Amino acid sequence: MLTLGIETSCDETGVALYDSGRGVVGDALHSQVDLHALYGGVVPELASRDHIRRVVPLVREALVQAGRTLDDIDLIAYTEGPGLAGALLVGASVAAGLGIALDRPVVGVHHLEGHLLSPLLADPRPAFPFVALLVSGGHTQLMAVEGVGRYALLGETVDDAAGEAFDKTASLLGLSYPGGPALAELAREGDARRFAFPRPMLAGEGLDFSFSGLKTSALHCIRKHAPDDRLRADVAASFQAAVIDVLAAKCLRALEATGMDRLVVAGGVGANVALRDRLVRETARTGATVYFPPARLCTDNGAMIAFAAALRHQEAPAGQESFTVRPRWDLSTLDAR
Ligand code: KG4
Ligand code: ZN
Repeated sequence: MLTLGIETSCDETGVALYDSGRGVVGDALHSQVDLHALYGGVVPELASRDHIRRVVPLVREALVQAGRTLDDIDLIAYTEGPGLAGALLVGASVAAGLGIALDRPVVGVHHLEGHLLSPLLADPRPAFPFVALLVSGGHTQLMAVEGVGRYALLGETVDDAAGEAFDKTASLLGLSYPGGPALAELAREGDARRFAFPRPMLAGEGLDFSFSGLKTSALHCIRKHAPDDRLRADVAASFQAAVIDVLAAKCLRALEATGMDRLVVAGGVGANVALRDRLVRETARTGATVYFPPARLCTDNGAMIAFAAALRHQEAPAGQESFTVRPRWDLSTLDAR
């Protein structure tokens, strides 16, 4: 079965083809980073307009990569939410149009479910059940995953997402949007022990997170000292160390609380090498195993949307056409359908 996946929830237009027998056979992506960098963040209207420009050429590109034609597509999937309403509508409209033209089923996919299941595209592939850490620009959640569609929320951020904290702190350091990868790069040259930034919500039993105070601490620190290159690198390293300490500790706590021994990391911040190294070390120490999607699939992409739809379709074939977007959509309200 060949599934077309279309992702347009935010600032990446991703289109991919997933073949249930062969895996991802086409994967085309356009990032709008340069478009939004000027404004220091995503401008929703510009995002929608750019998705409109990119999506059809990207469908063509994915088909060429796969050596297939539109007629070969069996199922069409798009990101239904959460995300920017106008941006989501672009993917939904193209999917619905193709569905009508080709007479194929169309399914809406939860963006976070796409992220959550994307580590299953990696080799080795984690078996269910597992604990998933979803760390993106918009979300920071720990979920207990029993199977496709069976997700229980264990904890989440009470304010900023981890990626958002990376981006905001990066902006304070004069790095351009989205600052996460640039901050991680700068942190490599810095001294992580120079500033003892808080480790929010680390004490106590809970699995929730809070990152907004950390950004404020970084701001005070930058204001207090002369912001030369040394200071910027040390702030970056100290900030990153604080985020990683909290994420790693809560992941271990979630594994312990659920009795599970597999941890899966997904979402853009999952591309962070220092976080990966730390989680590999910590899980090995406790006899657990951590799985990551390939770095390219950590950030938004069409492959994860095609893949999630194909897995769901396998369990419960999609019948009717779907044309809805849900800018706000809680993953734990998703059922096995
Ligand atoms: O999953 P994603 O592509 O989009 C959302 O759904 O939010 O995640 C993007 C987020 C951004 O905040 C970006 O700065 C962050 O992931 N990110 C990183 C790294 N690569 C991407 N944060 C820290 N270190 C990285 N290497
Ligand atoms: Zn995402």
